[in-house]
Amino acid sequence: MTHEWEFKRHRRLRSSAAMRSLVRESHLQMDDFIYPLFIIEGNNIKNEVPSMPGVYQISLDYVKEEMAELQSLGIKAVMLFGVPNEKDEQGTGAFSESGIVQQATRLIKEEVPEMLVVADTCLCEYTSHGHCGVIHNHDVDNDESLKLHAKTAVSQAEAGADIIAPSNMMDGFVTVIRQALDEAGFHNIPIMSYAVKYASAFYGPFRDAADSTPQFGDRKTYQMDPSNRREALREAESDIAEGADFLIVKPALSFLDIVRDVRSHVNAPVVAYNVSGEYAMVKAAALNGWIDEKELVLEKLTAMKRAGADLIISYFAKDVAKWLQG
Ligand code: PBG
Repeated sequence: MTHEWEFKRHRRLRSSAAMRSLVRESHLQMDDFIYPLFIIEGNNIKNEVPSMPGVYQISLDYVKEEMAELQSLGIKAVMLFGVPNEKDEQGTGAFSESGIVQQATRLIKEEVPEMLVVADTCLCEYTSHGHCGVIHNHDVDNDESLKLHAKTAVSQAEAGADIIAPSNMMDGFVTVIRQALDEAGFHNIPIMSYAVKYASAFYGPFRDAADSTPQFGDRKTYQMDPSNRREALREAESDIAEGADFLIVKPALSFLDIVRDVRSHVNAPVVAYNVSGEYAMVKAAALNGWIDEKELVLEKLTAMKRAGADLIISYFAKDVAKWLQG
């Protein structure tokens, strides 16, 4: 058949599954996933988070079987969040030697030393007011809070955490935490900075899971305005200058332009955090039979890789492992 016009036949490279996999540009592999875990104080507790079907708060006695499951699925890193019994103004539970995350970290490193433990470094799960630092005059005091975040990071490293991931969005947290870790002899513990963290409505289900909803106001004086793009690069630059080893962009799905910008701007590994609200929306639609969950999740996580993420923190990690295995 001849044509009077010329055009390119793109469909040649889509003609079969084998042909498509030959030219595929982005891939998901379990090496790139970090699975978040909520560890709750107490015994014999496994609470499903109502807004996050398939995600549980578990007590320490469930940690061993959880690790066995994760290992069988090829998941090599977990990110720990604590759900303590007691809270106070300073968030003491975050930096106590017997804090729930410290206990869980020791247990995991004892049971499965090869599992990487990423410790989320924040106070909001431990403060009575639910903010990510200490309060003065109805706002979070930056420099006072830094001291507590540094203490938290050091106590997490002492418990055996492999990576420190500060999510508090105070200015200077990387500087202060790096210095404190070095002084305590933890030169080799990397910092995975939540460098670019937006004040997002997508964190709602997490705040149920971690019981960390602010009791007054919101987080807009420390987390970023979702309207801003150039500001993300300022945050990324300063965290790199302060010594961050990885940069997190959070949330992921509605900020893929930012993932791409950060990837183009810095050479450190970029981590996309596929947050709780992104999980909850998909699960709700899937439970209603409105979408094909597997196809949709694989599409959106692959989009994060395509946008430039090296790693993905996701509540879907177990599902992905099963789908990739199956
Ligand atoms: C702690 C923290 C939050 C998340 C991770 N670390 C909550 C927040 O900033 O309110 C959210 C994660 C998610 O929604 O999955 N500061």
